[in-house]
Amino acid sequence: MEQTLSIIKPDAVQKNVIGKIIERFESNGLRIAAIKKIWLSKADAKKFYIIHKERPFYNDLINFMVSGPVVVMVLEGENAVTKNRDLMGATNPKEAKPGTIRADFADSIDANAVHGSDSLENAKTEIAFFFGKRAIF
Ligand code: CMP
Repeated sequence: MEQTLSIIKPDAVQKNVIGKIIERFESNGLRIAAIKKIWLSKADAKKFYIIHKERPFYNDLINFMVSGPVVVMVLEGENAVTKNRDLMGATNPKEAKPGTIRADFADSIDANAVHGSDSLENAKTEIAFFFGKRAIF
């Protein structure tokens, strides 16, 4: 069993497709172990995406992530990290396989509907960023 962090980004929340995205996870063997809707502060968004600090898209990414509320979740299941990434599809929705979340709900590489941890190690850090142990079931 693995746990991974998923964020439904401001574009998908605005489109009112939270339930449709969660359904993809649940119907593919992932369980919601923790969930909350929050509006990230700029300081938190910067801290969360600190690994991208030197990338040219960093500022746009931060501004986008604070443009509206997000839904943050811990997903649990067998191979949860890889499974979540497979369900999300490629970072750029134009390259995402048909039937993936980004192909179906995302508009651009910036407004790409969801974030998912890219490794088990990063999942642990990202989960701890948003949830205390007692909030994960
Ligand atoms: P996410 O999985 O949340 O991780 C970092 C985000 O930066 C990524 O999704 C994209 O939304 C955004 N981004 C914008 N441009 C790029 C790029 N060229 N490569 C990777 N990520 C990018």
